[in-house]
Amino acid sequence: MSGTILIIGGAGFIGSHTADRLLALGYHVRVLDNLQKPVHTKGKPEYLDPAIQFIHADARDRDALLRALRGADAVYHLAAYQDYLNDFSTFFHVNAVSTALLYELIVGERLPVKKVVVASSQFVQGEGRYLRQDGQIIAPTLRPIEQLQRGQWDWVDETGAPLQWQWTAEDHVNPPNAYALSKHSQEQQAMRFGLRYGIPSTALRYSIVQGARQSFYNAYSGACRIFCLHYLLGRAPTLYEDGQQHRDFVNIHDVVDANILALHDPRTDYQVLNVGGGKAYTVAEFDRIVAGAFGKQELQPNIPGQFRFGDTRNACSDTAKLQSLGWQPRRTPHDSVREYVEYLQGQSDLQQILDHAEKTMKGMNVVQSINK
Ligand SMILES: NC(=O)c1ccc[n+]([C@@H]2O[C@H](COP(=O)([O-])OP(=O)(O)OC[C@H]3O[C@@H](n4cnc5c(N)ncnc54)[C@H](O)[C@@H]3O)[C@@H](O)[C@H]2O)c1
Repeated sequence: MSGTILIIGGAGFIGSHTADRLLALGYHVRVLDNLQKPVHTKGKPEYLDPAIQFIHADARDRDALLRALRGADAVYHLAAYQDYLNDFSTFFHVNAVSTALLYELIVGERLPVKKVVVASSQFVQGEGRYLRQDGQIIAPTLRPIEQLQRGQWDWVDETGAPLQWQWTAEDHVNPPNAYALSKHSQEQQAMRFGLRYGIPSTALRYSIVQGARQSFYNAYSGACRIFCLHYLLGRAPTLYEDGQQHRDFVNIHDVVDANILALHDPRTDYQVLNVGGGKAYTVAEFDRIVAGAFGKQELQPNIPGQFRFGDTRNACSDTAKLQSLGWQPRRTPHDSVREYVEYLQGQSDLQQILDHAEKTMKGMNVVQSINK
């Protein structure tokens, strides 16, 4: 395929890496992005390749989106509102409404878009599946707050027997929050509007993505940023619960591989596909990887029994479906951390980033503690 690819949200972490790969493959790349704060605290990021045609606009701006869509052969929709705040409607306004507008314009204006790829999230699966001791597979929803206050982190059945987490496939849907619900809506739209109007569409359910260019200022950011900033400041981070939560962190370049596969391979049409790391790490194991990258193994993390109500205990995506199409996760969290650390240390305003991190750490008050 050749031609013009529009990336909505292409100034961000995943979008800009995808843009670089598309440029290398010979595509013309157009980005529509509103440079949302605090993700882009300093305006248009320096890492954006000058060959990218950049349109500064909101994904919900009808005229701007239509202009961006004209002449586009394919579209990635990666723009999103991502946060832990309680403004539920904003998640739907930004994530779901912009997706509806995208299909509305393609259909209404009869635009010859040959492929749409929307970014979904592992959050759609929520807690995922668990195996009971009697061999039954079940799907629990939310650990009761009283259980967490007792410091009982793992899932147990009604007899108190532990449940074993499972690699969870795409047919599982258990969205725990407004972000996840809005992402599920994006998936559903891609499948329904795609099939109904013959617009080949794919929804990619990314696990936690790691690598260079993740915003230093985004409140919604994972362990990679927080742990790295702590160790750079010579401090030990705090792990929630007991640090034994499992996650299948995925490297940005593996995510870009999946994005490109979705663009090129018609077997991905009308499919929701998990994009995960393929190997489960506990948060405590990930902490050791970051400490090692900074040569700070002597610093041990704090594990005071804090938790965030609503967090999933384990989230690991079964990627068999995508692997059957020839994709594989080829990088590890060690690669991701190394790339992130290099990126962090190369920042000209490192002191400002650290000052901001310091302030945020002091102000962090979203966590609760076990009743001792
Ligand atoms: N990074 C992850 O771990 C992860 C995991 C699962 C899913 N995702 C999804 O992947 C996509 C990309 O994530 P990312 O990590 O690159 O995030 P990011 O914040 O780095 O990039 C998102 C981009 O979208 C832009 N944007 C936000 N609201 C916009 C709007 N209303 N109009 C136009 N542009 C807007 C931002 O300015 C930013 O450049 C998102 O849809 C996200 O939900 C990310």
